[in-house]
Amino acid sequence: MSNNRTFTMIKPDAVQDGHIGNIIHDITNAGFKIVAMKLTQLSSVKAGEFYAIHKERPFYGELVEFMSSGPIVAAVLEKENAVADFRTLIGTTNPADAAEGTIRAKYARSIGENAVHGSDSDENAAIESSFHFSGVETF
Ligand code: RTP
Ligand code: MG
Repeated sequence: MSNNRTFTMIKPDAVQDGHIGNIIHDITNAGFKIVAMKLTQLSSVKAGEFYAIHKERPFYGELVEFMSSGPIVAAVLEKENAVADFRTLIGTTNPADAAEGTIRAKYARSIGENAVHGSDSDENAAIESSFHFSGVETF
């Protein structure tokens, strides 16, 4: 995957709080094209694998429990400079610090339950997209 794709999840807090439609609206309004999308739920094993990079962090157990607690929307998004532009659109990890108008500022509950995931590199975008979607599910 080149630098024009990123992977996102609308996390269980934002799904439960009824923000799916507004978040997709913000994403497409910002110029991202949806090339894969589904409503799904991670098992705790799958959530643990997805966030394995954070295994040693104090919040890992809480993160895995939260990410497997309810349905999520997983999606692959296409735009020039997708990874960096999407991180700008979602705002900082802690919504209390997130710039006004960003998705986390508008829809997140807290630093742990922060509404959306965004890949942090082109390499991870490719890994995370294939974790959730097969070739025939990605357009
Ligand atoms: P993400 O990977 O979900 O897009 O978030 P991020 O890059 O902004 O933040 P990262 O450092 O990768 O952390 C992954 C997720 O772990 C939870 N977290 N909780 N309680 C805490 O101090 C804490 N710190 C991080 C958040 O859900 C964060 O998005
Ligand atoms: Mg991250």
